[in-house]
Amino acid sequence: MPTPSTSDLYREYVMPTYGRFDLALERGEGSRVWDEAGKGYLDFGAGIAVCSLGHSHPKLTKAISEQAAKLVHTSNLYLTRPQGELAKLIVDLVGLGGKAFFCNSGAEANEGLYKLARKFGSPTGRFEIITFTNSFHGRTLGGISATGQEKVKTGFAPLVEGFVHVPFNDLAAVRAAITPKTVAILLEPVQGEGGINPATPAFLRGVRELCDQNDLLLLMDEVQCGFGRTGDWCAWRTITPSGVEPDAVSWAKGIANGFPLGALWAGSRSSGAGADGNDRGPLCDLLGPGTHGTTYGGNPLAATAGLSVLRAIGEEGLLENARILGNHLLESLEAMQLPAIRSLRGVGLMIGIELNDLGLKSGAREGLPSIVATKALMAAGLLVIPSGERTIRLLPPLNITRAEADEALGILKGVLTAA
Ligand SMILES: Cc1ncc(COP(=O)(O)O)c(C=O)c1O
Repeated sequence: MPTPSTSDLYREYVMPTYGRFDLALERGEGSRVWDEAGKGYLDFGAGIAVCSLGHSHPKLTKAISEQAAKLVHTSNLYLTRPQGELAKLIVDLVGLGGKAFFCNSGAEANEGLYKLARKFGSPTGRFEIITFTNSFHGRTLGGISATGQEKVKTGFAPLVEGFVHVPFNDLAAVRAAITPKTVAILLEPVQGEGGINPATPAFLRGVRELCDQNDLLLLMDEVQCGFGRTGDWCAWRTITPSGVEPDAVSWAKGIANGFPLGALWAGSRSSGAGADGNDRGPLCDLLGPGTHGTTYGGNPLAATAGLSVLRAIGEEGLLENARILGNHLLESLEAMQLPAIRSLRGVGLMIGIELNDLGLKSGAREGLPSIVATKALMAAGLLVIPSGERTIRLLPPLNITRAEADEALGILKGVLTAA
């Protein structure tokens, strides 16, 4: 019997939940990965906005190797230093007081947001959360209910009740959707899976005002856009440098470079009175003992990974690099004036390229412009991430060099010109 290939193993034994590309990757270094045949690729997907430091970053490798040799897991029945230090670092980076909670993924971090909002609204019977068209909040039942895209919900009814969707960047629609049952508004400052759609500054300011006027929580999902990708620690500050602050935030993806870790932060605003009329203290203490938890969340290995990634982003000046090289990529793509490109959107190293049909068949998934372009770029040695039918995303490591950015631009120009 010949040894089965990696494709054979997947076909036979792995559930077909993903529309995967037939590319088996074996190793990575910096902004490059290599497949099993030894072919190299410039990785401008970074595991879908995850590998902020690129692959095999020496600081991360050293930190997790040393921690793995010392203590991997203890449960949350006990204290471990890395979790305490990571919580402090996140609270310091947000800069608004409050406290953090740790879990394992973005969907799970968002579950924490929904539960926080429901607990906040429980004395007044409020539970509805307003979210947005084209948003994405994860694949749990809560996550698909919160997500403003029909395709993730099909076949999974009944969904979790209490989510209302309105068009993104449409303040009048948000205002009209607020009812006596509304407790929170949840948004991605830059929608990622929806195709890189940044919130406008006026929209963010307006949503904050509506929250203040109606005693609603402003929840931000920074799972994809957070911790440096937009050129700031907090994506909302890239959009509105001052004045707009959230009440609670979720993160995952880029927080630990691929080591599974999610986080939730809640601020110190009052939780208001409970059903008994007593003050419930600050929001960050509302989820008290026994209300929420997870076995692995923030274990010493995961927290060490998060600490080492966030510290390296600061030490290596990667916020500035994301701003400078993000602008360079966007301006260079604009200057190319390629007929294949319908529009360009981006903040920092989150860039969406919306494609025209040009020379690309439509209809079957294989024929969608986003998939055809992703495959053609892959064949030319550049990995990008498709988004919907006609957008491809550039989400490279935050430490890409100018030479790597120019190499990617050259490949994009060649492939999209041919299209
Ligand atoms: C904005 C946003 N929220 C939540 C999620 C879900 O994160 P995870 O896949 O880690 O559960 C994603 C994943 O793409 C995301 O982009």
